[in-house]
Amino acid sequence: MAISAKLSRWFWRKSIQRKETEPPALTDVASDDLYFIPTNVNLDYVPTFGFERFLNKQHEAWAEWPLTPDRIIDHRIFGWLRRADALKLYEMAAMCKGDILELGTHQGLSSHIMAQALREFGDTGNRRIYTVDLDAPCIVKARENLAGEIAEGLVDARVGEAGEVCRNYIAQGKRFGFIFVDHSHYYGPMREVCQLLGQLVEPGGFVLFHDFTDPRSAFPEEGKPEPDFGVLAACEEALPAKEFEYFGAFGCAGLYRRTQAPPSWFVRLTRPLIPFAGVIALTYYCAHPILIFESALVNYLFWWLGCAALLVLGIIQVFRIQNIWSTVLGILLCLVSAPVWVLSSFLAPHIVNGKDTGYELVQEVELQNSLVRLYRTNGGATTAFGIHVRQEIPTTGLVFVRSVGHFYPCYSVQAARSGANSILIYDRQQECEKWPEKQTRESWTLALSRFVYF
Ligand SMILES: C[S@@+](CC[C@H](N)C(=O)[O-])C[C@H]1O[C@@H](n2cnc3c(N)ncnc32)[C@H](O)[C@@H]1O
Repeated sequence: MAISAKLSRWFWRKSIQRKETEPPALTDVASDDLYFIPTNVNLDYVPTFGFERFLNKQHEAWAEWPLTPDRIIDHRIFGWLRRADALKLYEMAAMCKGDILELGTHQGLSSHIMAQALREFGDTGNRRIYTVDLDAPCIVKARENLAGEIAEGLVDARVGEAGEVCRNYIAQGKRFGFIFVDHSHYYGPMREVCQLLGQLVEPGGFVLFHDFTDPRSAFPEEGKPEPDFGVLAACEEALPAKEFEYFGAFGCAGLYRRTQAPPSWFVRLTRPLIPFAGVIALTYYCAHPILIFESALVNYLFWWLGCAALLVLGIIQVFRIQNIWSTVLGILLCLVSAPVWVLSSFLAPHIVNGKDTGYELVQEVELQNSLVRLYRTNGGATTAFGIHVRQEIPTTGLVFVRSVGHFYPCYSVQAARSGANSILIYDRQQECEKWPEKQTRESWTLALSRFVYF
């Protein structure tokens, strides 16, 4: 998938919207005609993820799909889906992460729609739909209808009883990013599955219940012509309230999201410290870089933008107002990163014709596989000159770097090769005031690693 498409999906995932906050009351889904959509609830399809209307042409096609007189999708694979159900299934399969579980395959229409989405949005191609049905002839028919999808590895269709399948997956530790519950309409089996879903769906994952807004759900006890028709009642009573948030009704289906687990005290305490670790790492890296760009201009822009990013992080931290500590840390981060950023802005005039005039190359000594380069540092009028000695291996556009010596104040020292991987540094004119302790000005031999770090 193109980077732009990946970025769009990242943004869409960040802006998830609830259509409603409360599920409809049982009486809201009542309708005079048992097989038609109730009018007291808004059942239109709207995206849950942050995109506009449709994900692509294939998704949009389900909004226009021909219908039977009962207003269900008229497809070569028989099923009981409405247009809004199909649109929501496609969206969830495309946008949720991880594998998909479907309880109730029938002839495979819903699996077919979800497999379409996986083919388009399945990332690395390792996401799969696991669909189960109690009825063996249904699975035979579904396998026939989904032969292509099964051959592609998008669908795994098996005979299985929903509750038992859920318990087996829980025992195996298997989790799903999206679950489509469409096996039974009766209160008992629905209740059983609802109680298990919290252990099956990943935090932040979704569950879509079909026949949720079916008018037969309105009066579970006396529901005619199917008594005990209780999808809506089972969801309301048996889904653990703290673990699921209601997200809205779409066509005949109701959508719930498994709430994110609250971060542990350790994560909450350490998260605000991450930007500080960034400042420390950046500052340390400025002084002891490991890998730099060959171009002084690109290097400068990298540091300058890095400092700016930390400043922005600090400002965000202040305005997020999570708790007093994160605000205090945000203020401190701004206080540290703002001056560093302003200071680095002043260094811009040092870059002339792509070269850093404050860091002038004065000597280069060739070793077996690397170079030793001596740079004269010039920090401006208020500072003295210095000499920085670095071992480097230039590659295309990048340079592996290790700092091996720093003389300050110092205008010039000389270096000569004294072995395959060693150099002799000397200061015959005795110009450098600060010479490393225990070394004589005539002979400081430095043994270096063959490949800079090893
Ligand atoms: C409404 S259909 C599924 C339709 C399918 N999801 C679609 O949209 O094309 C319900 C299916 O669930 C199956 N079923 C009923 N009770 C079940 C249970 N306890 N476990 C597994 N499957 C069950 C039925 O055999 C039936 O094929």
